[in-house]
Amino acid sequence: MTLDDRERIGGFFEFDLKNFFLTGKKQTFKNISNNNYHYFFDSSRSSLKVILDNITKTKGREILIPDYTCLESIIPVIKRTNLNYVIYNIDSFNISPDIIIKKINENTEVVLLCNYFGLFTQLECAKSIKNNFPNVQIILDSAIDSYFLLDRTFDNNFIDYEFTSLNKFFCLPDGSLLRSKYNLNYDNVEDNQLSYENNLMASIFMFLSSKIKDFEKVFEQESISFYETYKKKLNRQTTPKNISTLSKSILQYLNFQKIKKIRKSNYNFLVENLENNKFFKIIKKKLDKSDVPLVLPVEFINIDRNEVRKSLFEQNIFCPVYWPIDNYINLPIGEFAKNKIKNSLGLIIDQRYNEKDLTRLVNFLNRMS
Ligand SMILES: Cc1ncc(COP(=O)(O)O)c(C=O)c1O
Repeated sequence: MTLDDRERIGGFFEFDLKNFFLTGKKQTFKNISNNNYHYFFDSSRSSLKVILDNITKTKGREILIPDYTCLESIIPVIKRTNLNYVIYNIDSFNISPDIIIKKINENTEVVLLCNYFGLFTQLECAKSIKNNFPNVQIILDSAIDSYFLLDRTFDNNFIDYEFTSLNKFFCLPDGSLLRSKYNLNYDNVEDNQLSYENNLMASIFMFLSSKIKDFEKVFEQESISFYETYKKKLNRQTTPKNISTLSKSILQYLNFQKIKKIRKSNYNFLVENLENNKFFKIIKKKLDKSDVPLVLPVEFINIDRNEVRKSLFEQNIFCPVYWPIDNYINLPIGEFAKNKIKNSLGLIIDQRYNEKDLTRLVNFLNRMS
């Protein structure tokens, strides 16, 4: 099905049956962690909290975190543990291990690596750190990777823990999958029968807004307000929560192969049609076999990214920014990260859209002058 000319592209998943991509077969997740442990929670924040609580009960130990990641969601979680965070400045999307190794000292307990956009997994970097410091725990934050779809196995020689956010890839109100080398204790986890409700309401209102034209703006506003409440609650949540029954049930029926195929094909379509655009650089043009992208990340040059984003909003096209740092502006952010925070944008390629839909985005970007 193709969208009308003005229909919304991007934004979080509206609760729409056509976005589910279901198979008629119920799947089990027996092999998802290839004989390691796996757990489902409501969000990556909960996964991270469970991991950090299991790593240390001693106060004053340190976790190294990258300057380019979702600091707004990660730092509040770390502050609720016994660990202190120390920032390292990344130098490229494939981080040089030396940058991290230089920062490791006798207090370093954990290194957090970020897997960027399903395109840069940091596996080589993890290998190098683990070979030099076998006692340092390595967490791979794959919140915006889709290892779930990739069938990428969990290499516990180098990675101790890895988590992803399921609702960034699928039409689900919540969900995170955690893979771990160790059996984790998580007695303090609560059921999530209420906190995901705001996100579910947000996606239902977004669906209504796309179906009932007379109330499009009202329902969209309502949806945004539910979504903001959901995010605020998630940040204030002090104890980890389980995945909701609703998300877990839908997840078992999702057609991962189909979703993967559409994402890759939309990505390649955008690259083919935008590679000569003089206003931005495409961060990775050629997908590796195991990549399944979240978005097509581009970096604007000679033009204000925020102005372009605003003009796209006016076309009803919503592209995300990675990552705002409004509350952490005073942290020691390096030049590489600063540049990405200011100039990068994620172009939409997800499974809700086909080439015809995305032609609107392509035409807009190619007509800019
Ligand atoms: C890299 C990264 N890590 C962690 C998170 C937190 O994920 P969640 O919203 O599932 O808690 C995000 C959220 O955007 C993220 O981008």
